[in-house]
Amino acid sequence: MKVVAICNRKGGCGKTTTAVNLAAEWAARGLRILLIDLDSQGHAGLGFGIRAGSRAPAVHAVFTRPDFDLREAIRDTEVENVAVAPADPSFEGGSADQGVYALDRQLRLPSIAERFDVVILDTPPSIGSLLINALAAADGALVPMVPHALSAEGIQQFSRLFFRVASMIKPDLRLLGIVPVMVNPRIGHQRRVLEAVAAEFGAHRVVGGIRMDISLAEAFAAGEPIRAFAPNSRGASDYSDLADDVSHIWELPRSTSRPMGHSNLGG
Ligand SMILES: Nc1ncnc2c1ncn2[C@@H]1O[C@H](COP(=O)(O)OP(=O)(O)O)[C@@H](O)[C@H]1O
Ligand SMILES: [Mg+2]
Repeated sequence: MKVVAICNRKGGCGKTTTAVNLAAEWAARGLRILLIDLDSQGHAGLGFGIRAGSRAPAVHAVFTRPDFDLREAIRDTEVENVAVAPADPSFEGGSADQGVYALDRQLRLPSIAERFDVVILDTPPSIGSLLINALAAADGALVPMVPHALSAEGIQQFSRLFFRVASMIKPDLRLLGIVPVMVNPRIGHQRRVLEAVAAEFGAHRVVGGIRMDISLAEAFAAGEPIRAFAPNSRGASDYSDLADDVSHIWELPRSTSRPMGHSNLGG
C-alpha cells in the first residue's frame, strides 16, 4: 500500500478534482483505492456521490477519539475498486488532539494496508494538524497548482513546509510532482509561471498538465468521476495521462485485476 497526499494550502486549485479523478483512473487500472477526505467541506466524497450523514462515522474521528477505528468510516462507492472515508462537516480544527501520527497509525494496520493498493488523501486548504497528519502518513505528495503568480508563491510556502515536515517527521516523504491544473496553453503568462516553477523545483517535478475543462466541474456536480461522466473530454484524457505518469514515477503496480474474458471469441 502506498499513500499519496494531494495538497496545496490554497483553496480552489484543483486538489479535490485531482484526488477524485486519480482515484477513478487508478481504480480502472485495477488498483484498489481508498480516498480519504480530510477537508471538512466534504467535497471528495461528493465527487463519488457519497455524502457524510450527520451520524455516519467520518474520518475526522481519528483525530478526536483515541478508540476510533478508521474502518468504521470506510464506504464503498458505485465505482469498482474505490472506497471513500468521508469527512465530518462539523469538525473543528482545534479539536485534533491525537497527535501527528494518528492517521498514519490507522493506515498501517494490516486490515487497511492489505485491503488497498493506494490511499489518496485529499487535504484542507490550510496548514494545520490535518495537513501535518496527512504528510506524516504519506509516502508521496502531489501538489496541484493553477499557474498564475500568486499560486507560485503558494507553492514556495508549501515547499518550505514540505521540507520542514519531511526533515522532522517524515524524512522519506517524496515530492512526486507539481501538477498544473486549469491550464490554458494560449496564455503566455501561465507559460512563464510554469517555467519559473520548473526552474525552482526541476522540470522533472512538473507532471501531467490538466487543461481548463468545464466538464470537470459538471462531472463533480453529478457525483461522478470524469472518465464515467464524459469519457471523451479533455479532462478525462488529461487525468488518464496524469494517472499513467504518476504510476510510472512512483512505480505503482500496473494492475491487480483479472484480464478480460474471451467469451466473445466464439468457438
Ligand atoms: N481543469 C479544470 N477545468 C475547469 N474547472 C476545474 C478544473 N479543475 C477544477 N475545476 C473546478 O474548480 C473548482 C475548484 O476545484 P477543486 O478541485 O474543488 O479545488 P480544491 O479542492 O483545491 O479547493 C471546482 O469548481 C472544480 O470543479
Ligand atoms: Mg477541495
